[in-house]
Amino acid sequence: MAELRSAQWYAGTGRDAYIHRAWMRRGLPSDAFSGRPHIAIANTASELTPCNAHLDEVAASVRAGVHEAGGVPLNLPVVSLGETQVRPTAMLWRNLAAMAIEEMLRANPIDGVVLLGGCDKTIPALLMAAASVDLPAVVVPGGPMLTGTFGGTPLGCGTDVWRLSEEVRAGRLSPEEFTRSESAMIRSRGHCNTMGTASTMALLAETLGMVLPGVAGTPAPDSRLLEGAQLTGRLAVELVAADRRPSTVMTRASFYNAVVALAALGGSTNAVVHLLALAGRLGVEFGLDDVDRVGSGVPLLVDLQPAGRFLMEDFHRAGGLRAVLREIRDLLDPSARTVTGAPLVDGLEQAAIWDPEVLRPRSQPLLAEGGIAVLRGNLAPDGALVKPAAASPSLLRHRGRALVFDSVEDFHARIDDPALDVDADTVLVLRGCGPKGYPGMPEVANLPLPPKLLAQGVRDMVRVCDGRMSGTAYGTVVLHVAPEAAAGGPLGLVRTGDVIELDVPARRLHLDVTDEELARREPDPRMQARCAAPTRGWERLYVEHVRQADTGADLDFLVGSSGSAVARESH
Ligand code: FES
Repeated sequence: MAELRSAQWYAGTGRDAYIHRAWMRRGLPSDAFSGRPHIAIANTASELTPCNAHLDEVAASVRAGVHEAGGVPLNLPVVSLGETQVRPTAMLWRNLAAMAIEEMLRANPIDGVVLLGGCDKTIPALLMAAASVDLPAVVVPGGPMLTGTFGGTPLGCGTDVWRLSEEVRAGRLSPEEFTRSESAMIRSRGHCNTMGTASTMALLAETLGMVLPGVAGTPAPDSRLLEGAQLTGRLAVELVAADRRPSTVMTRASFYNAVVALAALGGSTNAVVHLLALAGRLGVEFGLDDVDRVGSGVPLLVDLQPAGRFLMEDFHRAGGLRAVLREIRDLLDPSARTVTGAPLVDGLEQAAIWDPEVLRPRSQPLLAEGGIAVLRGNLAPDGALVKPAAASPSLLRHRGRALVFDSVEDFHARIDDPALDVDADTVLVLRGCGPKGYPGMPEVANLPLPPKLLAQGVRDMVRVCDGRMSGTAYGTVVLHVAPEAAAGGPLGLVRTGDVIELDVPARRLHLDVTDEELARREPDPRMQARCAAPTRGWERLYVEHVRQADTGADLDFLVGSSGSAVARESH
């Protein structure tokens, strides 16, 4: 085996090596510093990230595995992001977490890393960091929670919050009953149990090759997760010996497979922005149009909320990711490999579907064509997304009058007004919610419907936004519009009353206004006032450097890889 990276700190008899060893000894035998790989456990456990609070226990199993294989495990607490807790939106902090993790992986005397994440942004941030440092790395996803019930009905966490709150707004559920459901929503440790962003990113991390096959999707309380974590600890030591790094695992073929899986799973639209950012870190040629091209012919096989019926506990019981991949094996690129060194497709024939209601066989898909559609047009020159499987079929081709909101606050101030000039055909437009505008591109695109239309039985409307949508939400929502309004995108020029045309089969999003008229218009000053540039700190750095959604909303100076070399000593 080549000399370990950690030997740059620990080898030799000089003063600096003495300092590095002496401060780390604390009970470690001297052979811990000669020839044994040092494996960081980048741990996003935090009580303020409730979905990841159990990861210390997972880390203990990883430690055991690293020890068994002859490595030295080292706990490395890293920036953690609780999706429901941090303001103004966890997405503002994804790049901060990725940058901080990247720098700490590079700065420390480690040879490899096990990445522990769960809640939405944590696995993307960990993967982006590991990709840029490019040290041997493997992910253990923390796993979804078990299914809670309320009034005898299973609760999809996230999704049912939206559903129940709409029931209250429509007057069909009392506020007291709504509050009573709160304690039933989170049944156990683990992240959201729908096919939201956390579940999607865990399953895509495995599809990308970065998780021990078969581990992603294991519910957080299931003892098999700890078994998988221990085996992953052993594997991390093997990765160092084999010099198997993120850049050797996550190739263009891996991203191709991730898009195929995303479509078959009916995964979150948020995955697109994370995959684009990750590919940018790796220098893999992968763009927005690949998402549509590769995913659009793939059948949707998974009947999970938010668009479907079941939850992640059912998904795992029914056979999990490997069973899904088996069904679509012919659509996968067989050249893609995993952290084990073997092709992703190896051993898929041993996977089986145990519940065809939850995981459909290829012959009986939920939809013949799943995937995420990429729309373009004069309203989204650089692209916008819509998830047809989560939309109403009757709205996939639609023309309607725009009703424009310049900010989330503007929306909340007006949407409940009984005098609001809106009907079921209206297209609700929300802008000022992109990466620069909010800032941070929050999950606000799935706008709640006006109460007066809810009372009429309207359950979906076309909505257009430069922000994101929660992976646990659903509806005919056009999102990630690029360029965003605050970056000069045409969305900033739409006026209430303009006609917007959505044609998903034709991949078109069009504002029925002439080019000449658009060229004459100025962005609304109220929106511009809302999007005033922050003056200090991370927000300032972010707004000055964030790229648009169509390339992953990473910071321009974080794109690419710096590798793991650090030339200078600290003493
Ligand atoms: Fe953490 Fe949903 S809030 S995964």
